[in-house]
Amino acid sequence: MYVDGFPSWIEALEARHLGDLTFAEVARALRALSSTYVERRHKLTDGAALSGAGKRAAFALFYGPLHFLLVHHIARTMVSDTSDTLIDLGCGTGASGAAWATASPRPPRMVGIDRHPWAVGEASRTYREFGLDGRARQDDIATAKLPNGPASILAAFTLNELSETSRSAMLTRLVDRASRGDRVLVVEPLAGFVAPWWNRWRDAFTDAGGRADEWRVRAELPPIVAKLDRAAGLNHREITGRSLWLASRSASRPASS
Ligand SMILES: C[S@@+](CC[C@H](N)C(=O)[O-])C[C@H]1O[C@@H](n2cnc3c(N)ncnc32)[C@H](O)[C@@H]1O
Repeated sequence: MYVDGFPSWIEALEARHLGDLTFAEVARALRALSSTYVERRHKLTDGAALSGAGKRAAFALFYGPLHFLLVHHIARTMVSDTSDTLIDLGCGTGASGAAWATASPRPPRMVGIDRHPWAVGEASRTYREFGLDGRARQDDIATAKLPNGPASILAAFTLNELSETSRSAMLTRLVDRASRGDRVLVVEPLAGFVAPWWNRWRDAFTDAGGRADEWRVRAELPPIVAKLDRAAGLNHREITGRSLWLASRSASRPASS
């Protein structure tokens, strides 16, 4: 899959994040980061994933591009159009938001929200590098005032980092926004144990007329991502994930596509 702006974004990430750290340091940080996501997920609510320059570089260079490739595929397969505004909840480096935006026939204005100041800077840079309008701001998505609709709202690999109370409130809020015309896309890892709350969200989305999907995407990884994958002993021959989608009918492609 070729996406305009993707190769130069990767090149810029590589130059920036491998400027102060060696490849071996980033690969070591990637191993620590992936164990935080899988084995020590209770630490995610404290922001442990992005603590330290090594983990931030690993996140930006490795997970960012993987999330981009997966979300781009999901949006291209499933979403027929985007609203004028795309709100990216827990935008991180902006990868997933940029992926949805660049899969859209009309690029939306980006509003990224993240509690981490480093992520806010990275996301604004990502939007610029893909030629997208808008920027990211620092806020807590559990309490942030969101732009009025109609909007496309993305929560990619973020909800797992909320407390149970904030996540429940977010579910009510997103289903309500969709009932008033917004398009909502949630993406999370495939492994069930990572998100025990998933089934409740899936039922709420499908009861409201939405859909739930699982994805296994074979994509050619950028060389730096493939090299980190091998060095950290991970195996991303396929990029996997699952999604929830809720919107009015005209915003979705038919379920069979
Ligand atoms: C795993 S990253 C995913 C980033 C991005 N959505 C992506 O797909 O690559 C999760 C992000 O959510 C942010 N986050 C977690 N809890 C948050 C909260 N309560 N408010 C705002 N951002 C939050 C973290 O700082 C981090 O950048």
